[in-house]
Amino acid sequence: MTIQSPEGTRDLLPDEAKFWAHFKAVASDVFGAYGYVPIETPVFEQTDLFVRGIGEATDVVSKEMFIALSGENLKRLLDGGAVKAKSRLSLRPEGTAGVVRAVVQHDLVPQGAPPVKLVYAGPMFRAERPQKGRQRQFNQVGIECLGAEEPSVDAEGIIMLMRFYAAIGIPVEATELLVNSMGCDACRPPYRDAVKAYMDAHADELCDECKRRADINPLRAFDCKNPGCAAVMEDAPKITDHLCDDCRAHYGTVKAYLDGAGLAYTEDPKLVRGLDYYTRTVFEVQVTEGMGSQNAIGGGGRYDKLVQEVGGRPTPGFGFALGYERCVLALQAAGYAFPPARRCDCFVACVDDSVRAEAFSLVQALRDAGLASEMDHQHRSLKSQFKLADKLDAAFVVVMGPDELAAGQVKARNMQTHEEHLVDLAAAKSLLACLAAEPSGTEPLGIAEVFGGIGEGN
Ligand code: HAM
Repeated sequence: MTIQSPEGTRDLLPDEAKFWAHFKAVASDVFGAYGYVPIETPVFEQTDLFVRGIGEATDVVSKEMFIALSGENLKRLLDGGAVKAKSRLSLRPEGTAGVVRAVVQHDLVPQGAPPVKLVYAGPMFRAERPQKGRQRQFNQVGIECLGAEEPSVDAEGIIMLMRFYAAIGIPVEATELLVNSMGCDACRPPYRDAVKAYMDAHADELCDECKRRADINPLRAFDCKNPGCAAVMEDAPKITDHLCDDCRAHYGTVKAYLDGAGLAYTEDPKLVRGLDYYTRTVFEVQVTEGMGSQNAIGGGGRYDKLVQEVGGRPTPGFGFALGYERCVLALQAAGYAFPPARRCDCFVACVDDSVRAEAFSLVQALRDAGLASEMDHQHRSLKSQFKLADKLDAAFVVVMGPDELAAGQVKARNMQTHEEHLVDLAAAKSLLACLAAEPSGTEPLGIAEVFGGIGEGN
């Protein structure tokens, strides 16, 4: 049996791999305009970082982490030995914890410094049950802004995320932006107690897991997919009725900025997010049609205690991540198809093997001039070279034959109009070089047109 990709993973074949590169480039452009600069952190970290940062009671940490063990440590464990804390490693289930660890480790926000704005992209790993839109390895693009607690940071981040969706082609009307505030150390504990008391009073209507959650982390019950629990939690106390004055003012200002930017949003007091580090603002973007149950294409919020949690000085933070694969599903639901990864501007065809070396050098020259160019490497007949050029969607084909070459010429065929002209070889090379240096908009059709204009008609 042939070996298949592991369950919950997906190959990005060339057309899509090219789109992923484009996706990251658009993110870099949109977020770059807001001052975000790139950061890369390892795909595995000490397990402790995720336990402390994301929270031991979250599903992500308690059920979904992929543990990374070196062969040496696996042997040690199998032999009944122990592994040192710093060698207990896990694949990152999300990017925030690693970025915050790097910010602390390299002191990227020295006291009194302006906020640091970081953007990252790459694979995350969660051992969830795979389904449409839910994978075990998936790609995220995320941003983190550390060093400012002003609500303008939150609003700016949310506006920026919605701009990204528009720039990548997800129709705004297909999305719904949900916002909430999770409160802070002052107002959340009494709210949590109120939710626990409510859950205790409805214990016989809750699933076993939610009964356990009531003791460890009652707010997680808002995420329970069990319809009975969802019905109970619908009437649970609402955080927005329990916010302290500071948190209410912060939330109010975030909303005022969003209103000012003309951004539509829905307040959802049940939105708690699946990670424990959030304080104050949380938000999620969902796609309403064609996605199934995994319809969140991005989300994030403020985390003013996380830096301390991983050992740094008190430093407020805000960020979000968006799921690449779910964005692709959203785009496909809106009718998007990947354009072919490969574009060929010019295919150089050989009439026979005697011109092969000259054709090889012309292809190099065309590529040097910035044109995607190809030739046959399998001694095909001229007819099948044309078929190949068609398959590559070549804009034009240069046919090199011994007789024309002896006169320093080649034949150029515009593959769209089927016009064919004799062209001087040296002129062809330099003309193509000039066109390649032109601002966009002239290639590849412009090249074909010019080819149509300069040669002797056949
Ligand atoms: P998250 O909501 O866990 O947040 O993930 C962000 C996005 O990643 C989700 O909205 C979804 O699009 C995508 N995603 C999550 N899990 C999967 C999966 N199993 N398969 C496919 N896509 C998935 C975070 O990860 C936070 N670190 C965001 C953040 C940054 N908060 C503050 N800073």
